[in-house]
This record gives sequence, structure tokens and C-alpha cells, in this order.
Amino acid sequence: MAAGKHHVEKLISVERIQAKVKEIAKDIKRDFADKKPLIVPILKGSFVFAADLVRELDMDFTVDFLSVMSYGQSTKSSGIVQMVKDLETDIKDRHVIIIEDILDSGLTLEYLEEYLMLRKPASLSLVALLVKDVERTVDIPVKYKGFDIPDKFVVGYGLDFAQKYRGLPYIGEVIFHDEVSK
Ligand code: IMP
Ligand code: MG
Repeated sequence: MAAGKHHVEKLISVERIQAKVKEIAKDIKRDFADKKPLIVPILKGSFVFAADLVRELDMDFTVDFLSVMSYGQSTKSSGIVQMVKDLETDIKDRHVIIIEDILDSGLTLEYLEEYLMLRKPASLSLVALLVKDVERTVDIPVKYKGFDIPDKFVVGYGLDFAQKYRGLPYIGEVIFHDEVSK
């Protein structure tokens, strides 16, 4: 779907993000300091958040990546999750911490949770920087949450709109000038 005319308005500032990242890191350290967890950022959207978060974690951990795609060029979830890159690490008996940029419909995480639980990790916890205020058909327990946001399409700090805006240092809302293009 074409991007159409739009602009971006700031929703969450760099300072608020930084403070929240520190808080989340503190909670993770409290719970996992002696457990050498495996940190799993879900690509691509969470790469900026994850990079900031791990630099606040002065504890033992390892990192591996998962890449999934569910969106294409549109702003609505297709409901179909495609595994683009799987983990390289054996997660059996490991404490796995999934890092997500945003929880929207929850379909991506529902799929991932089922998929990863088959490999029998010691535990599976979820960090989500943003949680959208939408009605979800699936129940996804977020252990460490950054911000609740309204049901708007957001970009920046790793999040994209048709692959654009990932490098914005803040989180912004996409304002569509022509609703048809949404
Ligand atoms: P879900 O499966 O509907 O929960 O969608 C999860 C994925 O969709 C996220 O990891 C994001 O990559 C993407 N996504 C959902 N909402 C937004 C948004 O507002 N902006 C950018 N990407 C989004
Ligand atoms: Mg994503």
C-alpha cells in the first residue's frame, strides 16, 4: 500500500524514553542478575530499543536475534507471521527475555510464544516498549512494559512506516492527511 501524504508528530520524547529504558533495565537486573538470560530482540523494530537496553544491563547475559515479518507495507497486521530468521542459540533450560518494540494485535507474539515454548526454555518473559490500546483477541502477558499508547500508528526509535523513520530518536505519531491512504 502506498505511503500517501502524512507527517509525523512527536509523541514520546528522547528523555522520557531514556528514563524508561533505565527503569526497565533495573527491573530486569533485579529478576535475572544471577540467571544469565538470553536476550532476544525481535527484528527489525526493536533493534534501537534493545541496543539502549543492553547497555544499561551490567550483568551476565547473551544475545540472539529473531526476525519476523507480519506487516508488509500497510499499517494493519496481516495476521500472518513469517519467520525470516530463527535463533542460533539452543534455548532449552535458558531464561529467555523477548524484546519487542510494540504490542499491537498480539498475533506476532502469540505465534512466537508457542514456537519458542516447544523448545522448553526455563522461562520466557516479554519486554515491550509500547503497548497499544486496542482490543486483543489473544492474551499476551507483558512482564516489563514501557508506555501505554493510544491506537495510533507510531514510528521512530526503530519503528517504521514502510521501512522509513527507524532512525528518529523519539517516538512519533503518523498523521495521515488523506484517510483513504491508511
Ligand atoms: P502485532 O502482531 O499486531 O502485535 O504487531 C506487532 C508488530 O507490528 C510490531 O512488532 C511492529 O513491528 C509492528 N507494528 C505494530 N504497530 C505498529 C506501529 O504503530 N508502528 C510501527 N510498527 C507497528
Ligand atoms: Mg516488530
